[in-house]
Amino acid sequence: HFDDGAAQLLAGRRILVTSGPTHEPIDPVRFIANRSSGKQGHAIAAAARAAGAEVVLVSGPAEAADPAGVRVIHVESARDMLAAVEENLPVDAAVFAAAVADWRVADASEQKIKKDGGGAPTLTLVENPDILASVSRHHTLRPRLVVGFAAETEQVVAHARDKRLRKGCDWIVANDVSPATGIMGGDSNTVHLVTAAGVEDWPSATKAEVARHLVARIAAELSGTHP
Ligand code: CTP
Ligand code: CA
Repeated sequence: HFDDGAAQLLAGRRILVTSGPTHEPIDPVRFIANRSSGKQGHAIAAAARAAGAEVVLVSGPAEAADPAGVRVIHVESARDMLAAVEENLPVDAAVFAAAVADWRVADASEQKIKKDGGGAPTLTLVENPDILASVSRHHTLRPRLVVGFAAETEQVVAHARDKRLRKGCDWIVANDVSPATGIMGGDSNTVHLVTAAGVEDWPSATKAEVARHLVARIAAELSGTHP
């Protein structure tokens, strides 16, 4: 168990959090999405608020309810999420918990695609912008602390280490989302915090507890008090 008090550790700080899935349109009635519930990201936004921060939550269409006291910007697609994030810099720390769709349909149809007897349509996919990587490499507005997530189904820590370097962020919160863990959509989480200093294995905890512990770590990092 964690022992993180409810002190106003982030008073006077501005924190940005992304959360939820993104929806990438195929046509006006269909989209590509993923199984993210938004629970972990929303819990981080709520915990940062409880710690006294001014919080902006940029959320895709998540199951989780808007946290109280947080400015929530609702977006649908990865490109909309990137624009909303950039509009809300600068911040002291940014936490990228969203499960951003890696690809979108190249030419989403303006009209509903119909079965016209000519067989199934072919969808051409193009890669979405990487929001975490672009904020990590921002020339003028890079937050002091940039935290990414890595949901992996195998070699969790090895992939997370690579991801931290590739994206240019400071920390990666890595979790095992292989179906056997039941984590996707659930209320608990088992994570590893990957930093430049190494890897911390955190105990299994509720998403709210993981959020409070991450917020306490962020506060310590911003005030330079982490041992
Ligand atoms: N992320 C992002 N923008 C994207 C893709 C990912 O901001 N277009 C962020 C996520 O919010 C997360 C981190 O990058 O904080 C890692 O996401 P992940 O999907 O694990 O990494 P990818 O680079 O997309 O690699 P892959 O899905 O192939 O494992
Ligand atoms: Ca991805």
